[in-house]
Amino acid sequence: MAKHPEPESSIVGTGRYAPARVLTNGDLERMVDTSDAWITERTGIRERRIAAEGEQTSDMAAAAARSALEAAGLRSTDLDMIIVGTVTGDSPMPATAVHVQQKIGAQNIPAFDVSAACAGFLYGLSIGDQFIRTGQMKRVLVVGVELLSRVLNWNDRTTCVLFGDGAGAVVLGPAEKAGTDLHRGVISTKIFTDGSLASSLTIPGGGSQIPLTHAALDESKNKVHMAGQEVFKIAVKNLTSASKAALDAAGLSTGDIDWVVAHQANLRILTQVASRLDIPLERFVLNIERYGNTSSASIPIALDEAVRDGRIKRGQTVLMCALGAGISWGSALVRM
Ligand code: ACO
Repeated sequence: MAKHPEPESSIVGTGRYAPARVLTNGDLERMVDTSDAWITERTGIRERRIAAEGEQTSDMAAAAARSALEAAGLRSTDLDMIIVGTVTGDSPMPATAVHVQQKIGAQNIPAFDVSAACAGFLYGLSIGDQFIRTGQMKRVLVVGVELLSRVLNWNDRTTCVLFGDGAGAVVLGPAEKAGTDLHRGVISTKIFTDGSLASSLTIPGGGSQIPLTHAALDESKNKVHMAGQEVFKIAVKNLTSASKAALDAAGLSTGDIDWVVAHQANLRILTQVASRLDIPLERFVLNIERYGNTSSASIPIALDEAVRDGRIKRGQTVLMCALGAGISWGSALVRM
């Protein structure tokens, strides 16, 4: 087998932002026909954060970005590119990354969004890594951010209990080359899409297919629609296969993994993935209990929590995997 290329980029700083307002399962019991017991048993979620009125996606993204830049010891003017993974941006046009650029005080660098739903952060990480590999860029900000509370149908108990708002970010910089102690770097990234499954998770209205007319709004076409069980089965299967693909590409095995930072969609999904990969759930960073599913923000939020509280240590190897609407999914192996 061809030798796996050396890492060229590495995560040099992480950050996160979560809105202050907490919505508990008890609060939801008073809004729809649900129960704390059902939500906890079926999903592992106990509470989620909800953005304040007037708070925008780019506000949350900028807060996470500032925190990641500070952790990296860098200024916004040190960045060469901004990539924002989101499906709940400030507006259809322009990209949310444009507002993030302005809010953090970066200038004249490319800033664009990636639409890959829950896999958006890993798509962004993969793209940023490629730009650094080719030598075109040195430092890339990758943000995962979602303000899902504004696109949920709060009368639909099958979706509104699952999601939350938040943002996470990393700064990618040059890798430390082999030979240095605990050299860190992005070892491999894998991204996939299966468009034949596009209808399983959608916000159908607001684009060319179903423009936002009064009738479309009355039918909640601007809200999340999901075939939950279908997505559940695909998630278990594809998160497992993508994780194996990232390991195979790097010539590593599950025994080499210190931590798994997987998309936090459902604790039962993660439990099944852990079992199929034969990695104990104790090695998964879990925070779904406190945030729910924050889509593209979930991996960078969990990563930042585990880095800051000392669970993930310098030199450890982290496996990341995510799946969401598209269906799009991916994985990454990173030495921190
Ligand atoms: N409270 C109480 N009862 C509920 C609720 C609720 N919030 N939601 C659904 N139910 C009911 C259903 O109506 C159904 O009732 P019935 O048997 O009388 O018809 C019953 O509970 C069981 O419903 P299921 O859909 O079979 O429940 P399931 O165990 O599949 O759990 C869930 C549903 C949590 C949505 C699960 O399928 C899931 O997590 N899927 C993955 C979806 C996901 O996370 N998507 C996010 C993006 S993709 C990703 O991030 C991986």
